[in-house]
Formats: sequence, C-alpha cells, structure tokens
Amino acid sequence: MRVQVAIIGAGPAGLLLGALLHRAGIAAVIVEQRSADYVLGRIRAGVLEQTTVDLLDAAGVGARMHHEGLLHDGIQLCFGGMRHRIDLKTLSGGKHVMVYGQTEVTRDLMHARDAAGLKTIYEADHVSIHDFESTRPIVRYRRGNKTDEIECDFIAGCDGFHGITRTSVPASAIHAHERVYPFGWLGVLSQTPPVSHELIYSNHERGFALCSMRSMVLSRYYVQCSLDDKAENWSDAAFWDELRRRLDPAAAEALVTGPAIEKSIAPLRSFVAEPMRFGRLFLAGDAAHIVPPTGAKGLNLAASDVGYLSRALAEFYRGSEDGISHYSERCLRRVWKAERFSWWFTSLMHRFPETGVFGQRLQAAELDYLVHSTAASTVLAENYVGLPLEV
Ligand code: APR
Ligand code: PHB
Repeated sequence: MRVQVAIIGAGPAGLLLGALLHRAGIAAVIVEQRSADYVLGRIRAGVLEQTTVDLLDAAGVGARMHHEGLLHDGIQLCFGGMRHRIDLKTLSGGKHVMVYGQTEVTRDLMHARDAAGLKTIYEADHVSIHDFESTRPIVRYRRGNKTDEIECDFIAGCDGFHGITRTSVPASAIHAHERVYPFGWLGVLSQTPPVSHELIYSNHERGFALCSMRSMVLSRYYVQCSLDDKAENWSDAAFWDELRRRLDPAAAEALVTGPAIEKSIAPLRSFVAEPMRFGRLFLAGDAAHIVPPTGAKGLNLAASDVGYLSRALAEFYRGSEDGISHYSERCLRRVWKAERFSWWFTSLMHRFPETGVFGQRLQAAELDYLVHSTAASTVLAENYVGLPLEV
C-alpha cells in the first residue's frame, strides 16, 4: 500500500489528525494495535479547551459535542472546609471550557472516519517503522499470519506513551524529561447526577479529591491514593465515604452515590520527549508528552499538536517546508507551558508525603492568595481555559 501519511495509533491524536488531513485533501491510513471497542473502553478526562473545540469543528465532527457537551464558565476550589469559585469566563475575557468526555470525542471521530470511508487497520501486531530519515519511510505490521507494508511520505507517531514510534528513535537523538509523583488517582464513574454544576477541585488533609462529570446523569469522581493501593481494595461505600470526607459540608451533604460502573487507579506523571520531529517522523500527543491529569490538559495538547501537524503537512504539499521545520519547536513551546501549569496545579492541590507541615502551610497560603487576588486567579483561569494556539 502507498499513502501520503501513515498514522500509528487510533487514539484521539491519530483520529483527529486523520480527520484534519482528510479535510486538507491528504490521504492517510491509521494503524492501531487494538480493536475499536478496546480503544473506546478507555476512560479519560473530559474538559475541552476552546482551541480543541475549534479543531473538532474544523475536522467536521463537532455536531454532537455542541448538542450534548456542557459549557462551564467556572470551577470551584475547595480547601479549609469552604468552596471558592474561580470565574473562568470573567477572568479570561469571555472564554469557557466544554465538558465532553474523551470517549465521546473518540466515538465521534471513529464514526466520521467510517462515514467517509477512510481506512483504519485495527488489531495490527508487531507494528514497526523504518527509514524515516529518508523521503520514503515504511511501516510494517502483521495481521493474523500476514505481514503488510505501507510506503508513505510521512509517519505520524500518535501511539501514546507506551507506543513504538518514540522508542524507534536512536537514544542519542532524543532527550526525555520526567517527573513521577508519589501518589495516584482512584477514579469512579457512576450513573448519578454530579454533586455540583461545576467541577470541584479539593485540597484536603486526607488528600486531593475531584468532582467531575460526563453529563447531568453521569459523574466522574477521583480521590488521591497511594501508589501501591489497588482499586479492588475499595468497596463503593468506602470510596463514597472517603470522597465525602474530602469535600465541604454542603457538597458532602449533596453528594448522590450509586454503584461504580468503573473504578481504576492511575499514576501521575510529567514527561516530555524532545524534539518531536525526526526526519519524516513526527511524534504527537501522549507519544511525546504526558501531563498529570490535574487541569485536564492531556487531550488538549494532543489536539494542538495534530492541529500544527496537519497545517504543516498541508503547507508541505503546497510546496513549503516551513511548517514541518518548525513543528517541534512550535509544539514544545505550548507543551512546556501546559506541563508547567499541570505540575503547578498538581503541586498546589495534593498532599505530598515529603513536604511536611512547612509545605502544607505554604500550600494553604498560596490557595488563600489565589482565591483572593485577581491577578493570581487570572493566571489560573487563563491557563485552565487554554493558552491560544500560535499562528
Ligand atoms: N502500534 C499501533 N498502535 C499503537 C501501538 C503500536 N505499537 N502502541 C499503542 N498504540 C495505540 C494505542 O492502542 C492507542 O489506541 O495508540 C493509541 C494511543 O492513544 P492514546 O494513548 O489515547 O494517546 P493520544 O491519542 O496521544 O491521546 C492523548 O488522550 O490518551 C489520552 O491521556 C491521554 O488525554 C490524553 C490524550
Ligand atoms: C475528568 O472528568 O475525568 C477530569 C476532569 C478534570 C480534570 C481531570 C479529569 O482536571
């Protein structure tokens, strides 16, 4: 098979890139190691910046999101037994965020891809990439007993943190920066109305908690837990009790509980690989960087990467290499700002075993400053709604 762009991975990065390239008249195929159902079974965050909403619209997949998604003008910070509202809209000059689950974004992208008759090769084994320092890169994979080969102009590595594209680059050509946090998030999805119409981020002496939602009848909650904890150790009742303890009295009272439809523990990590381009190979999304989930930047960064990449490739086929030359630098400027924000918000909201009372007093002082200073709240709001894309 010969195609202009071979995309490895059918997560949100790969699927959105496929849709944007299709709109630009560029032929692409996606090679994914799992099945479509497996990809849709993964539960991830659900807060979209306006820039992500704009890219989904540009890709022609925004209709259901605009119909079913929830626009949020604020978030709530809970500490010292009280809640404080951060008015995102006023502080950011009129912007808001869209609450719409990543699973639904992925589903919309898959439907649009099927409807347009675009090719995705699911359940591809032993995917490998070759010759990306030349102008004729190759992707090989196995399906059943058969090995197939794709010849292409470019490879997009959208295969997530555990994928093979980043690790196919010689170690001397790539630099990785990593921070692992000494705790995880225990998450529960439940068919109950959300405790509040806005997200609540809570800093509590027992640890962080987050009240989020997928819709007005589907809630998503998290509590900070230790890294060696197991989801099986938590009964539903124990989870709800722990969450209640970490909220202010009014929220604890209003919390509607029900059976968990999903319960899992995720570690928290900050990671950046530099650069993001190696000849004709581009890394995008989680393949190149990971943020801790506090602030929900992961999907938004994946979207902005592929926004830059689709534009760069469209420019290439019109005769200019400018976009592809600047791809890595352009992405990384935005990535590091989101890394900084996610690290800061994580550091502010969690209990760190090693910082002791001094660290807790500093956190309390910063939270107090944050909600009472317009300057500090503005910094949070501006980053939370998302920094603008570079043109
Ligand atoms: N070959 C083919 N596909 C692969 C391979 C491989 N060797 N390794 C991984 N994949 C697939 C995975 O099965 C997955 O479907 O690549 C896809 C990567 O998707 P994500 O992990 O969702 O990463 P990305 O598309 O960059 O999305 C970024 O979504 O995953 C969240 O936390 C993430 O919110 C962030 C955003
Ligand atoms: C979620 O809804 O899963 C979610 C929301 C906001 C975050 C992280 C996760 O900061």
